[in-house]
Amino acid sequence: MRDDLDEILLNETEIQRRLNELAGEIQRDYAGRDLMLVGVLTGSVMFIADLLRRLPMPLRLDYIGVSSYHGATRSTGELIVTKALKLDVRGRDVLVVDDILDTGLTLAKIREMIQKLGPRSLKFAVFLEKDVPHQDNFQADYVGFHIPNKFVVGYGLDYQERYRNLPYVGTLKPSVYESDRPVL
Ligand code: PRP
Repeated sequence: MRDDLDEILLNETEIQRRLNELAGEIQRDYAGRDLMLVGVLTGSVMFIADLLRRLPMPLRLDYIGVSSYHGATRSTGELIVTKALKLDVRGRDVLVVDDILDTGLTLAKIREMIQKLGPRSLKFAVFLEKDVPHQDNFQADYVGFHIPNKFVVGYGLDYQERYRNLPYVGTLKPSVYESDRPVL
């Protein structure tokens, strides 16, 4: 294991196996529908790429940018729209894809924004769900893994914009938070 990691919570093999199951569920649920995937920037990139290659069906892909953390390890509660949708969601079956459901602020806000645009249906897929209460009791429709309330990196998730490229999920050693050394 890398010496800046404390533990690996989810390894590459178990992630890829779970992705097969999730993609199977999504494919069954959206068969014959007008699916539009909406990835939430930036953390969803790994998850949505792995999902996409497992969904051999007609679909559209767009991205939305809503940022809440601003580089720190805790949510500030503030939300900034950094990229608006490009495609029209009206009448579409929209599935929003994100890396992690934590406080739920991000997805509750996105739900509110997209709902106003008149989609035919609106559901949410998250790679990770943290074991904490979520904003407005937010519930995702598809969850990759439930994890304890720890700060995790990898598989799209960052610490100060680093570690997104790890193909697994882990926690960082406390020493990493204490130094500003670029590590990955
Ligand atoms: C992270 C993550 C989720 C959100 C989850 O995004 O990617 O979108 O926070 O937290 P919440 O449930 O408490 O709202 P972030 O704003 O850090 O942007 P990023 O995807 O660019 O890392």
